[in-house]
Amino acid sequence: MIMYDIIEKKRYGKELTKEEISFVVNGYNLGQITDAQMSSFLMAVTIHSMTDKETYYLTKCMKNSGETIDLGIKAVDKHSTGGVSDTTTLIIAPILACLNVKVAKMSGRSLGFTGGTIDKLEVFSGYQADLDVKEFENILKEVGCSIVSQSVELAPADKKIYQLRDQTATVDSIPLIASSVMSKKLASGASIILLDVKYGSGAFMKTKKDAITLAKLMVKIGKMDGKEVYAFVTNMNVPLDRGIGCVDEVRCALDVLSGRSTSKLAILSKAIVKFLYEKYTNVKDKNIGQKIEEIMQSGMAKEKLAEMIERHGGNSTYVMKPELLPKSKYTVEFVSKTSGYVHHIDAYKIAKVVQHLKNMNIANELKPTQGIRLNVEINSYVRHGQVLCYIHTNSKSGLDSMLQELESAFEIKKTKTKEKKLIEKVIE
Ligand code: URA
Repeated sequence: MIMYDIIEKKRYGKELTKEEISFVVNGYNLGQITDAQMSSFLMAVTIHSMTDKETYYLTKCMKNSGETIDLGIKAVDKHSTGGVSDTTTLIIAPILACLNVKVAKMSGRSLGFTGGTIDKLEVFSGYQADLDVKEFENILKEVGCSIVSQSVELAPADKKIYQLRDQTATVDSIPLIASSVMSKKLASGASIILLDVKYGSGAFMKTKKDAITLAKLMVKIGKMDGKEVYAFVTNMNVPLDRGIGCVDEVRCALDVLSGRSTSKLAILSKAIVKFLYEKYTNVKDKNIGQKIEEIMQSGMAKEKLAEMIERHGGNSTYVMKPELLPKSKYTVEFVSKTSGYVHHIDAYKIAKVVQHLKNMNIANELKPTQGIRLNVEINSYVRHGQVLCYIHTNSKSGLDSMLQELESAFEIKKTKTKEKKLIEKVIE
């Protein structure tokens, strides 16, 4: 078998065999296939796509290129494809643990304009995300939930291929995304996985149609590998809550955990908890909604989050005292130039401003405090001069261009708008 022939076969849009895919993945992982050849192969896949069978073989080869974790305990995992003000993990993990559902979660850091769970957990100083599997398992058994970063080499072939995709305009391919995400998920130990596949301006999948295709494919791959995998397809055109940026998002998560919030983040988190509770227990409990409210309002959910943070070596003071969360040096107001109802808040445009803030050359310890706090939501009525959002920043340089970028992030009209559906589809 030679790589040249495999590239040529894919170039003509033909289906590759399991052996050919294995040859490509293993050869590239071992350095026997050059970057030039692999780039060409990836571009052929991006143009001609892959059959479900090919995508499954690709996933399996990447999964088997590294360690696979066996937790020896039934646990759930939830994976978001990346969103804006998407802090569901910090909310669902402690609530599910209070319901005796074990949550074993391997999370990542920020990717592009989207936020990362590990960065948010590190707001609680001392939080250790880099644990070995044994310690991960111990916390899971004792506390009921644990969120770690990917310390062992899960799917190293994916890591290598992903870096090349990033340089060769081949990220944007449904079979390549599906196999990349699923190779890590299938290697990571949880027996029940819920994928939150997002679409819209604040997501990597811009259209609902593509998100549904991707979600169906990932669920199918999971099943082919013998795991219980489900997917929600959710709208990510508008930020899920008012805070965007590490500290601002932690504040929102704590608000939801107190049972006080009615934000999209609260609605989505509760839907995820209900869904995973039913799948884990095999029980359809008509009182589950009420139980979740009780767990939040009694303070149990926050206590569980504090317990998990402490067990990971972090300082949990902020959980009960969010007013002590660190603050940015400056708070700059962005005001409305017109009066009317807020029709749209563009998740991508807001997230790009936060990304610029984060990339600014400032003192490291204050970095997580940079972000945006929205002062309005969809259908809020605003008057000329009223604050639309607060910018939390540690430097005033570049502020004018950020304020300019924000101009087009808010759409204000004379009449109210009909809110879009948040959870578009559930794929089982
Ligand atoms: N996240 C991944 O892990 N892989 C992709 O290809 C895209 C997003």
